[in-house]
Amino acid sequence: MVTKSEALKQVNKYLQGQAKLDTLRFITCGSVDDGKSTLIGRMFFEAQMIYEDQVKLLQTDSKKIGTQGDNIDFALLVDGLSSEREQGITIDVAYRFLTTKHRKFIIADTPGHEQYTRNMVTGASTADVAVILIDASQGILPQTRRHSMICSVLGISKVIVAVNKMDLIKYKQKKFNDIFDSYNTFANQLEFDQITAIPISALKGDNIIHKSSQMHWYQGPTLLDFLETVDRRTSSEDCTLSFPIQWVNRPNLNFRGYSGTIESGTAKIGQLIKILPSGETAAIREIILFEDKLRSAKTGQAVTIRLDKEIDASRGDVIVARNTNCGVSDHFEVNLVWMHTEPGYIGRSFWLKIGTTQVNAHITTLKYKVNINTFEHLSVRQLELNDLAVVNIKTDQKIVFESYSDCKPLGAFILIDRMSHQTVAAGMIKFSLRRATNLFQQKLNINKENRRQLNGHCSRVLWFTGLSGSGKSTLANALEKKLHDLGIHTYLLDGDNVRLGLNNDLGFTDADRIENIRRIGEVARLMVDAGIVVLTAFISPFRAEREMVRDLFEKGEFFEIFVDTPLHIAEQRDPKGLYKKARRGEIPNFTGIGSPYEAPLKPNIHIKTSEHSVSKIIEQLILKLNLQ
Ligand code: ADX
Repeated sequence: MVTKSEALKQVNKYLQGQAKLDTLRFITCGSVDDGKSTLIGRMFFEAQMIYEDQVKLLQTDSKKIGTQGDNIDFALLVDGLSSEREQGITIDVAYRFLTTKHRKFIIADTPGHEQYTRNMVTGASTADVAVILIDASQGILPQTRRHSMICSVLGISKVIVAVNKMDLIKYKQKKFNDIFDSYNTFANQLEFDQITAIPISALKGDNIIHKSSQMHWYQGPTLLDFLETVDRRTSSEDCTLSFPIQWVNRPNLNFRGYSGTIESGTAKIGQLIKILPSGETAAIREIILFEDKLRSAKTGQAVTIRLDKEIDASRGDVIVARNTNCGVSDHFEVNLVWMHTEPGYIGRSFWLKIGTTQVNAHITTLKYKVNINTFEHLSVRQLELNDLAVVNIKTDQKIVFESYSDCKPLGAFILIDRMSHQTVAAGMIKFSLRRATNLFQQKLNINKENRRQLNGHCSRVLWFTGLSGSGKSTLANALEKKLHDLGIHTYLLDGDNVRLGLNNDLGFTDADRIENIRRIGEVARLMVDAGIVVLTAFISPFRAEREMVRDLFEKGEFFEIFVDTPLHIAEQRDPKGLYKKARRGEIPNFTGIGSPYEAPLKPNIHIKTSEHSVSKIIEQLILKLNLQ
């Protein structure tokens, strides 16, 4: 046992040597009772990173919970959070740091329960290697498959199958081989390059750091030997250079530098580069950090780069190595892990953050979700918490990307809810859809401005939103009449009418309403482009979709008009008798009753229909909209 001062000396020695050591990140996964925490505790203990006083405390605590003799329950060391101790399970991802003579380790310790898939994704996204623990007395469990699947999707190619609790099966080789064989059988369907099985007992210390004296039949490395020698997977630094331009630094005519942070790879003087999306090429002439000129700069450094020739690059463009595989696209097939309780739907708009770039994006197709226990492909209409799915995603601008399997920083992204700013999904780009690269915006001779000039007025979309029976159609109808009389070219898209034609395939589930509004938004955009004033009257109950439609337009073209009629008044009016039916349970998902209405937070125009007459409202709308 080490004393505290000896341990500190060792730590210092380690620290001195540390700068020279590379870092391996690994994730430990296992079911609830597979002994994960015991394993990590044992590794720390045997690597002599525990102080004597901690050991004493653990011995006392272990006795309290019934561990026999002076045996230590190592899980106590790792399960630091008190709530975890109470529940006897590990929650959330804990990162632990261990240094040995040969390597530094960052260990992501993640929970085994199904509801914590998202935590596991967080832990696995940065790991080089996965240690998958299997309880030898239990064999392969559903969680073993689930965790393996997630590791594979997240691009971990090296897996250690740590068959734990070998002491419980009397260190029998046959059982160990059987478990490894069945693991290999199902792992054939996954994309691992290397699977290594090691028989261990975390409790007794067999094959963790020291070779077991109980299993002479096993000739392979101990767990630590393996971890100290296994190749790391490519990290951000090993990736090709990518440097998104954050701003163009041009203090005078003689100097043009591009400033930003290196997202992956290394930049070197003389290096041949290209700028995406234009594809123009150049070489790096200077790398500047404050006052200093550098020969090279690596991932994470914020620098200014000067090129050997004048190139017209601007903010948002990306400098990449000339021979790179990365490309630009706006439509991708991706693996997606849904991490939020609010479901994910086709068409709903999110922020997609990839590196430092943030754009709007939406799912265009839900191809399938994977049953992570059986690997079956299931068709879905929406994504639920912890779902793992293959989907197509469209961004509203082209982004620089590389497939996740080739370069993590340029292939991994998150989706963020635009209202709550919460991360709702983690994604990994598989490839760009060919359609995206084969479609080009065609330049036309006549544009929106030309059409507006001919019409003699501006074009806008006046987006009426409110409950059924709130008066949207009545107001939009009366306004269109008035505008028509004023000589303005208009078109009214009304919910019920459009649903009888263009959208007659859609119902009233959340997913269908989102698609309803997406299509109307696109149609309205075409009409605004045609130089027309478009009026729309749809409940459009969700904020996210109204914001998505707003983003389709230029500033000042989209007016959100909130027809604010309280539910009880809309229900009294009940022009189509639908509220009565809904109350009788005959219309499921009726807005305001079985389905929510999210009132606008900052509408451009707020109309309280119960306070003014229709003609008064129209008069005010004409004044406010200033459409001439
Ligand atoms: S939205 O929610 O997708 O924007 P939309 O405005 O197109 O709805 O259609 C609403 C109209 O459809 C209502 O005015 C009503 O006449 C009819 N309707 C039928 N079923 C429902 C329902 N479950 N919820 C709301 N409106 C419904």
